[in-house]
Amino acid sequence: MAEFKEAPAGASVLTQANVWLENRFPTAYAEYKKHLSEYYAPKNFNVWYFFGSLSLLVLVIQIVTGIFLTMHYKPDANQAFASVEYIMRDVPWGWLIRYMHSTGASAFFIVVYLHMWRGLIYGSYRKPRELVWIFGVAIFLCLMAEAFMGYLLPWGQMSYWGAQVIINLFAAIPFVGPDLALLIRGDYVVGDATLNRFFALHVVAVPLVLIGLVVAHLLALHDVGSNNPDGVEIKAKKDPATGIPLDGIPFHPFYTVHDIVGVAVFLILFSAVVFFAPEMGGYFLEFNNFIPADPLKTPAHIAPVWYFTPYYSMLRAVTDDMVTVLVIIVGLGGVLGTLFGGFKGLWKWAPLVFALVAAALLKTFDAKFWGVVVMGLAVMILFGLPWFDRSPVKSIRYRPGWNKWLYGIFVIVFLVLGYLGIKPPSPVGTLVSQIGTLFYFGFFLLMPWWSRIGSFKPVPDRVTFQPH
Ligand code: HEM
Repeated sequence: MAEFKEAPAGASVLTQANVWLENRFPTAYAEYKKHLSEYYAPKNFNVWYFFGSLSLLVLVIQIVTGIFLTMHYKPDANQAFASVEYIMRDVPWGWLIRYMHSTGASAFFIVVYLHMWRGLIYGSYRKPRELVWIFGVAIFLCLMAEAFMGYLLPWGQMSYWGAQVIINLFAAIPFVGPDLALLIRGDYVVGDATLNRFFALHVVAVPLVLIGLVVAHLLALHDVGSNNPDGVEIKAKKDPATGIPLDGIPFHPFYTVHDIVGVAVFLILFSAVVFFAPEMGGYFLEFNNFIPADPLKTPAHIAPVWYFTPYYSMLRAVTDDMVTVLVIIVGLGGVLGTLFGGFKGLWKWAPLVFALVAAALLKTFDAKFWGVVVMGLAVMILFGLPWFDRSPVKSIRYRPGWNKWLYGIFVIVFLVLGYLGIKPPSPVGTLVSQIGTLFYFGFFLLMPWWSRIGSFKPVPDRVTFQPH
């Protein structure tokens, strides 16, 4: 057992209590030092660095409001819709809890998308933070599953038909699809069994996984240390006497206090939505979801909530024509790979053989299935980002100027895809989403090539920082 510390003579009751606790729970004190008071973060964090702590805040809001909602919500197809209305009208402050939870879902995606964007522009996914990024993408997947299952619970028209459409997509998977869809639904149609299992997963299973992943995300980050807007590794320049990075400042109190600014601004905006526009014009809570689920009445237009729509657009973009375009692209890739791939011996033909097999598969299964594959790959591709990027620098600040345009176009394409996913399909909309989908995948798949070209600016030894 470690030596017991003694409180100094005449110490206040608070100091004595502190020493008493430290003697009995030294691990908590050691962890506090490791992760807060002696975790040295780069001193040049900017506004983009607010979104990690804001994601944590929204996670807490969702868990706390979720617990209170569960006290009155009934996971039963005959009672669910009415129990939500009961929460809204009769439970004291129930409307506030419910609107906080529904607004929190959208807020979660807003802060997480901005958090991911920060990672993208500053190359935070690059060595040695690959695992931080991988945990992040896993969190993103979990968050999507969590939001999807949560949306079924109010048992409104959109809950019901949205779930119907998405679960039916799984049925398009060859061989196992129909059984998989049955397993997800727990019945031949979306019904009480579906609601019950989604409730169990939404309230217990997925949040547990989510919390575990967030802990892993932060532990992995603290092992390697934070990146910063310059993409400079602060651990490379340490004070020889103390071993502390010259450009590092203790997370607590500096960033805990700094993050309060972000929290305050966020809470003002969040409250404005909760109190004045909780439906957000039908984007946060769709109007059709104020009508109880009716399995006999399909709404004229079914669209997922805004945060899924970029991916939904990619799903709808995969028509038969698009599959033909994909076959041509795969074929071209195979020919170019064989001619210029630099493979030796028989391996020379590998790209062509691969392309032929891929083209045959593309033509064998129907476009709906490939739509599902494209939608899944659009998220999965993020796992590969640390290996796609071959740029000699991390941060966008030191990359060639045209990269800013490219990243800008990427955002615009993502937003346009999101917009199109909300709208009913149209010939022009489909064409634009097809171009957008190709751009989205091209951005990542061609990154090993484009991230290396252009003239890079010299990266400074130390972070750039102006005290204010
Ligand atoms: C519940 C969701 C999430 C929470 C609570 C969370 C929390 C955090 C926190 C507190 C930090 C440290 C502060 C900061 O750098 O902003 C961080 C860093 C980071 N997060 Fe997340 N995160 C979440 C989701 C994600 C996702 C979805 C990704 C990417 C796909 C991601 C990628 C990263 C990266 C790369 C860093 C290191 C950034 C750097 O050092 O520059 N995170 N996260």
